[in-house]
Amino acid sequence: MTNSPLFYQAGPALPDISHADGVTLWDTRGKHYLDGCAGAISCNLGHGRQDIRNAMLAQLDRVAFTYRTQFENAPAVALAHALVDMTEGLLEKVFFVSSGSEAVESALKLARQFFVATGEPQRRRFVSLRPSYHGSTLGALGVTGYHPLEAPFTALTQASLKVPGPDFYRHRDADDDAHVDRVLAETRMAIETAGPESIIAFVLEPVGGASTGARLLGERYLKGIRTLCDEHGCLLILDEVLTGVGRTGAWFAFQHYGVVPDLLVTAKGLGAGYYPVGALLARDDIVAAVMASGGFQHGHTYAGNPLACATGLAVVEAIRRERLLENTRARGEQLETGLRALAERYPWVGHVRGLGLLWGVELVADPATRRPFPAEQNRFAQITALAKEEGLLIYPRRSLDGVAGDHFLVSPPLTIHAEEVETLLERLGCAMARFDRALVDAADDAALTPQLKEAPTS
Ligand SMILES: Cc1ncc(COP(=O)(O)O)c(C=O)c1O
Repeated sequence: MTNSPLFYQAGPALPDISHADGVTLWDTRGKHYLDGCAGAISCNLGHGRQDIRNAMLAQLDRVAFTYRTQFENAPAVALAHALVDMTEGLLEKVFFVSSGSEAVESALKLARQFFVATGEPQRRRFVSLRPSYHGSTLGALGVTGYHPLEAPFTALTQASLKVPGPDFYRHRDADDDAHVDRVLAETRMAIETAGPESIIAFVLEPVGGASTGARLLGERYLKGIRTLCDEHGCLLILDEVLTGVGRTGAWFAFQHYGVVPDLLVTAKGLGAGYYPVGALLARDDIVAAVMASGGFQHGHTYAGNPLACATGLAVVEAIRRERLLENTRARGEQLETGLRALAERYPWVGHVRGLGLLWGVELVADPATRRPFPAEQNRFAQITALAKEEGLLIYPRRSLDGVAGDHFLVSPPLTIHAEEVETLLERLGCAMARFDRALVDAADDAALTPQLKEAPTS
């Protein structure tokens, strides 16, 4: 332990940050890093943006904070309009928050209040996927499926009904469609056993994030879940905290699949690392029912403040002005090509998957059986540390309920240029080559150990 009063996760001491610009960060010792994961997949515009700074300063000079029950503020109204437009008007109402977890909490509570208001108070459970990540507050944790995060708190959370989503890497069904159909049939069975009349909503990330290593669910599955929700009268909540505001090359990931949610949450990329701001978007009639029942019984102090919304607005305007959705698609293709080429070199790269500028690389001990590395070997941490030594930041987690299935995310800012993608890939290539050598050395040691044990000692 250092003698710093700060504590986060257990881990080695961290370098002190000095400054950052574009996709590059410098520590106080002068080492520079390419931000290959946009901080926590949040700094979508890169660092040091003058336009965002100027918009924030202009708002600070007017008023930084007003409380939403005392004043309306123009940036909040404008950002709400922008978000509605980004859904092409499919969701008409917006409720601001300051983080992804708050956005998820707000969605869970709005959905529940909707059914209380409309005479179905027996709906009291959510359905969600295992694995998944929806946030760290108790409500959001209740719908999260990631064992290490859940375990200490199961006595406190109201756990959702957890079902598996499709796994296009490990399934053993005849083909992907057959796999999806089986997963959907089993999900239907699980909901029918639990009692569909007790379900408030299905909560899922339309493209997986950190908990699955950017696992895709696909159109067939998402449409199947939409149908299931409609049949049973429950709502569909899409968590786009990580995928929203351009990350996958569309404003929202659901737009790739033609599946419309009833509630949608987003956060990270909306403030792009410049200020915390998130949003819950909802269908008009859901909000109308709740408002008619006396109003949404929920809120947070900093929600929708002028500075947060002016920042979000400047972010959305920058994405439009610089055509960053197009850049995300183009650079995403380049990144995919490079990642697949690197994967070809090493048998321990099990799967490369993703969309836009959100890519997951899963590591396996045995590519034939897809057996993961033993958890205690911490391969995800090793490769991330090697990348950092090479001057590249990537984002490590585990795909199999957080207990195995090492992977890392590559998800640079949406502003990244073609040459910077090449630099990212070069540095990743160096880290992977060193990781490979370490694996070979470890295998040699393991092979030698029995002989050494048997060797006569003199
Ligand atoms: C899909 C998803 N939902 C919710 C959250 C929680 O967001 P926050 O960390 O801003 O509370 C995250 C954060 O990683 C996320 O990826």
